[in-house]
Amino acid sequence: MPRARGLLILTGLLILVSPVPSRAEVNSFSKGLVVSVSEKASQAGLEILKQGGNAVDAAIATAFALAVTHPAAGNIGGGGFMVVHPGGANLPTVFEYREAAPLKAHRTVYSPDDGMYSHKVPGVPGTVRGMGLAHQRFGTLPWKDLLQPAIRLAGQGFPVSKELASSLNGLLATSKDFLELQKVFAPPNRNGKWKAGDLLRQNDLARTLERIAQHGPEEFYTGETARLIEQEMIRGKGLISREDLANYQAHERKPIAIPYRGHVVYAPPLPSSGGHTLGLMLNILDGADLKKHGRWSHQTKHLLLETMRRAFLERARHLGDQGFTDIPHFLLEKTFAKSLHASIDDDKATPSKSLAPEIPISPESDNTTHFSVADAKGMAVSNTYTLERSYGSKVVVTGAGFLLNNEMLDFNWFPGTTTNSGRIGSEANTIAPRKKMLSSMTPVIVTKNGQAFLVTGSPGGRTIINTVLQVVINVIDFDMTIQQAVDSPRLHHQWLPDKSKFEDMKGKAYQESLKKLQSMGHEMSGGPQGDAHSILIDPSTRKLIPGLDQRIEGGLAGY
Ligand code: GLY
Repeated sequence: MPRARGLLILTGLLILVSPVPSRAEVNSFSKGLVVSVSEKASQAGLEILKQGGNAVDAAIATAFALAVTHPAAGNIGGGGFMVVHPGGANLPTVFEYREAAPLKAHRTVYSPDDGMYSHKVPGVPGTVRGMGLAHQRFGTLPWKDLLQPAIRLAGQGFPVSKELASSLNGLLATSKDFLELQKVFAPPNRNGKWKAGDLLRQNDLARTLERIAQHGPEEFYTGETARLIEQEMIRGKGLISREDLANYQAHERKPIAIPYRGHVVYAPPLPSSGGHTLGLMLNILDGADLKKHGRWSHQTKHLLLETMRRAFLERARHLGDQGFTDIPHFLLEKTFAKSLHASIDDDKATPSKSLAPEIPISPESDNTTHFSVADAKGMAVSNTYTLERSYGSKVVVTGAGFLLNNEMLDFNWFPGTTTNSGRIGSEANTIAPRKKMLSSMTPVIVTKNGQAFLVTGSPGGRTIINTVLQVVINVIDFDMTIQQAVDSPRLHHQWLPDKSKFEDMKGKAYQESLKKLQSMGHEMSGGPQGDAHSILIDPSTRKLIPGLDQRIEGGLAGY
């Protein structure tokens, strides 16, 4: 989605892109809170909380509402990861609903001529079974009630924001061959363009959501919706079959738990690379005196960039679906982190290619979405899900009104082949039937004394993991408020390409260290990074405090 994001200005001058509360107006809440990219979707979650639902009920309602109000990434045709802290003495758990490769897919199913947008690139969607599994495990309100806000938003329509209007206009102009998409997202004045305030109604989607509400999550995989997906695949020569849909499985998984300075950071395990990569970085930083030079010194920036460089190399080398790939145990051992820490030169950037001979890896899309939910009883939910690229494959299932993902792009398409245009061919993430593609999505819940303390996550492809890292250290190491932690400019390095990024190119925090970082060998550039809609739960008062990321439109709803 061509996001209307301005560069973050550190001096407190935040660019408000939608009528969201300013920092001064943001209060804390005691009964429940939802923070997402869409105010209407957050309100859907709040409606469910007010009906007596818990944080998981509210998260499910928010996820279905985002499929209506944020069609670029909110979805029922994609997949993702949900971390849940059940509250009390219970430990956090993860619902993994990442898309899977269809049975017809194999190592060399794609040729260099295959594009990013077609019927051939969707993985088997996981969102609906993922939500179903979370509901089965923790839901308290009836399933069908949780979809009502989304059904209403789709059937009655909602006024589009300036950003959504601009995004839809861009989509329609660049997707002329996708006729069902053109129909579903046509502006009210068919020859005109979307404007802020126009009503977006999605009748086919409302009917699909109604079927899923009435018949349960299984409807998507074995009912009329499955039939419509199959018809769409036959029409466009796609890979997904009825058998793929019926066999798709979401899983409850044990999170990666990373002890960090008196807290524990819970993040998803594979096929998200987030838990391992974030864990490795936190383990490296745990051995460092991170506060010594202050948050914005060139020394701290250098340490963070070098930590990221090393962790992302290990990610590229080793990580893939754990059901298909052996994952080395040492990755999360403290001794390994110590050896990586010892390899950092305090005065010089380490050229990435000197660490390993591999060549550049492909950029990932930043069109994913994250939301955070917390309730009064100590339950918290951190959810990140996606269609991969903005609006996914651009294939709308005819008659069903929703987009299919293009998540197959997250596999390594050409085994053993690396190219300058950015593919890598390492084995861990090559394609196999039913295998799940490696993700960077990293929804996390940080606990303090066993209770949920910080709920965060972000979109942004590989930058996600570094965005989350920095929100976590801003709060834990640098004692920032959650809003400051979210507002602060972010660094990024992902091993290859060997480039260091810092969001706030113009700010004082950057200018003072720019020359030093360059002289140490960092090639520096800027640009917005992520949107980490977060919640902090005050350990003494249990107040729920929002961190609304104002790099993108968004909205919170609490009471
Ligand atoms: N498609 C982006 C991710 O899964 O990280």
